[in-house]
Amino acid sequence: MVRGSIGAFATCDHAMASAILSDSKRFGSFAVAKHKPIDTTVHDDEGRRLIVPMDDSFLSMDPPDHTRLRRMVAPWFSPRAIRQRTETIEAMLEEILDELGRRGGWDAVNDLSVRVPIRVIAAFFGIGEDNYEDFRRWGGIIGTSVDGIRTMSDLRDFRRMLIEMRDFFNDLIVKRTAEPGDDLVSFMVQAAPEGEPLTGDEMIATCGVLLGAGFETTVNLIGNCILTVLGHEDVRQRLLSDPDLIPGAVEEVLRWDAPVQYLLRVTTEPVTMAGVDIPADAPVFVVVAGANRDPRVFGDDAGELDITRPNSRKHLTFGDGIHLCVGAGLARIEAAATLRVLLRKFPDLQLADGAQRRPTRVVRGMTTLPVRQPVAGVAMA
Ligand code: HEM
Repeated sequence: MVRGSIGAFATCDHAMASAILSDSKRFGSFAVAKHKPIDTTVHDDEGRRLIVPMDDSFLSMDPPDHTRLRRMVAPWFSPRAIRQRTETIEAMLEEILDELGRRGGWDAVNDLSVRVPIRVIAAFFGIGEDNYEDFRRWGGIIGTSVDGIRTMSDLRDFRRMLIEMRDFFNDLIVKRTAEPGDDLVSFMVQAAPEGEPLTGDEMIATCGVLLGAGFETTVNLIGNCILTVLGHEDVRQRLLSDPDLIPGAVEEVLRWDAPVQYLLRVTTEPVTMAGVDIPADAPVFVVVAGANRDPRVFGDDAGELDITRPNSRKHLTFGDGIHLCVGAGLARIEAAATLRVLLRKFPDLQLADGAQRRPTRVVRGMTTLPVRQPVAGVAMA
């Protein structure tokens, strides 16, 4: 545990990171911290407070509200529900990659990685193609906002997005109330956990957090997986000869090239950790990407990529404790299915020039990852 010059604390130690994330009583969410240095509420033109999915959903709540709302979505992420989705996801990938196969080169992030989670999340709400573009834009803005909103133009985009998203989900709630289907919104409008129906704001925040937490994270996991495989010929060859190694490879990418680099907590009372005194209301950065390379857990080669590492799964990329990512299983199968179908269809795919990293700090990955298929009969460099 270290104290930075501005009074924030940080740890890369795996045991400490896990202990902090598992102790939501003493290390609370920043969104609900009692003493915040700045007011983070946003309002519409009529002065109504806007729902901010990452702050107003169960992601930032304590029990019992956290438990009540997480229970609403948990069945949609059960191993059985995920197994049922695997076939649909693979069929969707076949279709996308067939289309990309007709081009010589394409962008593995914008033409492929972003299309997978958007369709998967849209399916939760029973909505189709017409809304993909809006979802993609909203998800992108939420994903970037977790780094902090720095400019007036960012704030304007963020506020506009919150209004559009609220209006969209409000309409959807009205539609599904009148005519329920078999989607998550229909389930929420009919459910009354502990005898209390969900409020409109709770439903909007719950829908929004699935998009906010499930989009950019997964796009970047898929992008990082493709980059790792195409950038390491030995890994590509091993996966081609034994596709059963793909889930392990995804797990190792989650550890070694984590799409989420750190999480933020705030102390709710004075805490002493490893001899360091942390006052109440202090921000604590839990650097999961560092903890993922802690040699005490992953050995002296923790910095190396090893797709058969036996304990990759001990990474903290999905968090820990009560807020452990509810979509972890889904993200894993989205990434594994992408690699499986990609390698089957394009075993020789090559990285092309022009790859660019995202400028963000919380989410790590590529903004663009150009790839090309070798021309038949031309030897690859
Ligand atoms: C590679 C992909 C993903 C990564 C790295 C990731 C990471 C995380 C992390 C670190 C947390 C805990 C945050 C905290 O403790 O402050 C979290 C929570 C959450 N994630 Fe994910 N996530 C991913 C994919 C998804 C997907 C696909 C969904 C849903 C569609 C999703 C929905 C959620 C939700 C709803 C929470 C809140 C859980 C709670 O508070 O109980 N995530 N995620």
